[in-house]
Amino acid sequence: MIIEPIINGVVAKTAHPEGCQQAVKNQINYSKHHQQIHNGPKRVLIIGASSGFGLAARVALTFGGAQADTIGVSFERGPGEKGVGTAGWYNNIYFRQQAEAEGRIAHNIIGDAFSTSVKEQVLKLINQDFGGQVDLVVYSLATGMRPDPETGEMWRSCLKTVGTPFSGKTVNLEKNRLDTVELEVANDAEILATEKVMGGEDWEEWIHWLKQHNALAKGVKTVAFSYIGPEVTYPIYHDGTLGRAKKHLYRTAESLNEQLAAENGGAWVSVCKALVTKASVFIPAFSPYVLCLYQVMKQMGLHETCIEQMQRLFSENLYQKNAVPVDSSRLIRIDDWELRPDVQQAVNKLMGELNDDNFTKIGDYAGYKKEFLQLNGFGFDEVDYQKPVELSDLMAMKP
Ligand code: NAI
Repeated sequence: MIIEPIINGVVAKTAHPEGCQQAVKNQINYSKHHQQIHNGPKRVLIIGASSGFGLAARVALTFGGAQADTIGVSFERGPGEKGVGTAGWYNNIYFRQQAEAEGRIAHNIIGDAFSTSVKEQVLKLINQDFGGQVDLVVYSLATGMRPDPETGEMWRSCLKTVGTPFSGKTVNLEKNRLDTVELEVANDAEILATEKVMGGEDWEEWIHWLKQHNALAKGVKTVAFSYIGPEVTYPIYHDGTLGRAKKHLYRTAESLNEQLAAENGGAWVSVCKALVTKASVFIPAFSPYVLCLYQVMKQMGLHETCIEQMQRLFSENLYQKNAVPVDSSRLIRIDDWELRPDVQQAVNKLMGELNDDNFTKIGDYAGYKKEFLQLNGFGFDEVDYQKPVELSDLMAMKP
């Protein structure tokens, strides 16, 4: 069969395995040839390891100087009756192959990170191959739902405002146009549910569970990710339901940090740059800002994707010689280039000019769409997309 890109709104319905392999290779190549991570962790657990920041963290830690062994947890679908499977499925496979070729351990656990059975599988592997402990836990889940452990009922996060409604434009990747979206005001139950799904509670449960099982090494570090952005995006993100969840994440980091500091460890939230990922394209009314940001940061030579961000996080921040550099709220700020006044001034100017007719010229729509396609294995010059792919070959590859 020939695999074509099929996009439904902002969701990719297909993925190209060879293109995913190329994407992983490109990230590895970047990590190998940029500032290396010194004194990095050797045994790492990554929760949300198959795409976006989690995958990039895994690549950076394995190939960017630390030579870490990793266990990656993710929720992905393999090939079968429903199609070829998700990009993250193939990212896991090709990451493992490349890591093993260089003598590293790379285990993939596919399942629900909120479940006890996944925690048990992780612990088994930590005991089997990591001498019973991890040096770093990267928490990089992005999801829309989480089961309540008491009742089994689902909490569902929502992307809404808090206080005042907001109307804006959003990119439709399928139709290559801007659609108008209205963000409604969330009620208290929706705010709480979003905090439950995207806040820090599950991160804390993971750390507590690992601690209870004596699986945290002395000096263990843990990091989770957030976004803040400039004021123009506050109604959508920082002051919306997602922002509320992120504030919960910051409080969790403080409490975890106190607990881990006793053993010379620590917990941090790293605030990252706005990027095209499987999760971020869902955020309504956010894409016009990203189009303008991409345009400006590329022109200024400041554009980074997940791998550049993660290589910088570990080499210059989390594992540099001195104390981890943080802002007054103890957040690591690798969104510093995005928020530079000259960048934001130029972005504001473009946003003032952007409309339904000119967004592909004023903003970096071509770059935005290319990154989206490449997340799903499409749009790589190195890949022959006309070469047929056998489903049975794909099914024979195990994560
Ligand atoms: P992503 O969608 O690329 O990756 C999410 C990962 O979570 C995948 O590996 C997926 O398999 C895994 N996952 C989802 N539900 C799961 C479940 N129930 N069990 C196991 N694994 C599950 O997302 P992205 O964008 O890398 O997001 C990661 C974190 O970075 C999030 O906290 C997000 O808020 C944050 N962030 C994202 C930014 C962006 O612009 N994309 C900017 C700043 C922060």
